[in-house]
Amino acid sequence: MAGGHSLLLENAQQVVLVCSRGERFLARDALRSLAVLEGASLVVGKDGFIKAIGPADVIRRQFSGETFEEIIDCSGKCILPGLVDAHTHPVWAGERVHEFAMKLAGATYMEIHQAGGGIHFTVERTRQASEEELFRSFQQRLQCMKRAGTTLVECKSGYGLDLETELKMLRVIERARRELDIGISATYCGAHSVPKGKTATEAADDIINNHLPKLKELGRNGEIHVDNIDVFCEEGVFDLDSTRRILQRGKDIGLQINFHGDELHPMKAAELGAELGAQAISHLEEVSDEGIVAMATARCSAVLLPTTAYMLRLKQPRARKMLDEGVIVALGSDFNPNAYCFSMPMVMHLACVNMRMSMPEALAAATINAAYALGKSHTHGSLEVGKQGDLIIINSSRWEHLIYQFGGHHELIEYVIAKGKVI
Ligand code: NIG
Ligand code: FE
Repeated sequence: MAGGHSLLLENAQQVVLVCSRGERFLARDALRSLAVLEGASLVVGKDGFIKAIGPADVIRRQFSGETFEEIIDCSGKCILPGLVDAHTHPVWAGERVHEFAMKLAGATYMEIHQAGGGIHFTVERTRQASEEELFRSFQQRLQCMKRAGTTLVECKSGYGLDLETELKMLRVIERARRELDIGISATYCGAHSVPKGKTATEAADDIINNHLPKLKELGRNGEIHVDNIDVFCEEGVFDLDSTRRILQRGKDIGLQINFHGDELHPMKAAELGAELGAQAISHLEEVSDEGIVAMATARCSAVLLPTTAYMLRLKQPRARKMLDEGVIVALGSDFNPNAYCFSMPMVMHLACVNMRMSMPEALAAATINAAYALGKSHTHGSLEVGKQGDLIIINSSRWEHLIYQFGGHHELIEYVIAKGKVI
């Protein structure tokens, strides 16, 4: 039925707004308890934005006589914001399940990388793959993420390293951004690894002199939209100086800085990110105390990736210390051939158990703070009037079940809704 509004969600047991005063992120005391309404309804307009949220009887009176394209009875269920995955590498070809076996047998991530496996292995396969092939597998992966409640996801290039393949990956991401219903924040990650036969300095020069000018041109023509720039700042990959040069040039052409830092070795990446005005830094297992304070002061968010620390048996990032110092903590799945996880509910569970985050902290990290890490928390990441109608409905009367339950979320998450449409 054609109607005045797109969607009415009626009488939910709990509506988890996350925040309700237009906050762009949550840190410190604001994380103690999230904004939750009991017995509430929510309306999304035809433009895909939230029109009203409030007590069920108030909404019923306010919208009596109005028509909706879809009405969902949410009695006994909870409504939460769509989940935001702030860090993924989802465009690639080739299988690396054999490396999981090697790691279980004791090989480290860097041993496999230096022996030509890891990122190098995926780069070779991705260079050989057609754009259509990459798009198809990417689309399937996005479908799995959506089923697990993700409605906005950061997607990196970075398995091409040469300009031609990096552009192929970015075109695949751009196509998904235009054709699919999941929200995408696109990241150029041409400095994900140093290509064979080059030094880090030569690779950085190539990126600065050839890749970034091309991205600027394609962005200006409206062909490819890129939001963020990323570098893998790590011993044996890009050192601090090359990282600085690449990120600064990316910022100069209008990209948000969002990079891998302080993962396997302390690199002072957090200090660098704070100095450059980075929007986010990911991993941070080896961040220094000074780096944590610098990030809190600069409002540079920390994207923590519990899957990687778990899979590689790394030491856990010091989430508690970061939270106590006032860092804006976000979460990501880090989906990639090394960390094969599509599910933000699993990520939140791991963050709570292994990184000692509370459930409100984990949910904020996977919604408003993840949206902040992508520079999108003015439109995404909470249920507030005027924000995009991205949300999930779970078949439980307590929202915490989304985190408490370990796996099997397809049964729990009944609806995933993007811009007011069930997807
Ligand atoms: O975030 N650390 C660098 N990049 C990825 C791993 C990519 C890969 O192994 O293919 C990460 O974990
Ligand atoms: Fe990563």
